[in-house]
Amino acid sequence: MAENIQSKFIAIEGGEGSGKSTLLRLLKEKAGDNMVFTREPGGSPFGETIREVALKSPYAKDASAETMLCLMFAARYDHVDKIITPSLNSGKHVISDRFDASSFTYQIYAQETPQIEKLFWSLRDRLTCVPDLYIYVDVEVEEGLRRVQNRNANTNENNHFDGRKVDFHKRIKQGYTEFFKKVPHVVIDANRPLEDVKKDFYNIIDSTLN
Ligand code: TYD
Repeated sequence: MAENIQSKFIAIEGGEGSGKSTLLRLLKEKAGDNMVFTREPGGSPFGETIREVALKSPYAKDASAETMLCLMFAARYDHVDKIITPSLNSGKHVISDRFDASSFTYQIYAQETPQIEKLFWSLRDRLTCVPDLYIYVDVEVEEGLRRVQNRNANTNENNHFDGRKVDFHKRIKQGYTEFFKKVPHVVIDANRPLEDVKKDFYNIIDSTLN
């Protein structure tokens, strides 16, 4: 637990095309220096090294869900130790682009391995810090996919998850729904215009931090 009880740790979660990254970029632009922005997988130097392997290695797409889950948690333990806990202890709020809800849904639900759910909760129990709040930026699968397609047409960014289809994204949504039955969270309806979504997002951040 963080020593400074005023500091809050918020994780922002959402499927591909939810607009989560845009919201975070906008918040970052207007945030003061009492907020630390970070991301998963990655966040710390060693975590970012693990990210490269987990997302970019040509072998990653054939890796088992257990392998991916353990890689994600390996990066996460380092992220918590080196970035999240020290930031909270120095009185700063931490906003993370994804956290363990992503492992729950991408590794267990998207990779269709319900048998590793127990492993997930054991690994989670070993975290010394979990979010005070998860903000779930929720978009309909078809709308999310449409946005991802537009984005990929305009950039060269890609990772091995981007090519998968509707069923995969439906499973991601289902996994989030299951995970959020168990942790403190708020849901933002991201099917609306960005301005409306942004307003809700800022309000939730403000009311959580102040
Ligand atoms: P990124 O390009 O940051 O995606 P996004 O902009 O959608 O956040 O890539 C992160 C990818 O990593 C994303 O496809 C989800 C995946 N992921 C997992 O599979 N497990 C995890 O525990 C985390 C944190 C991410």
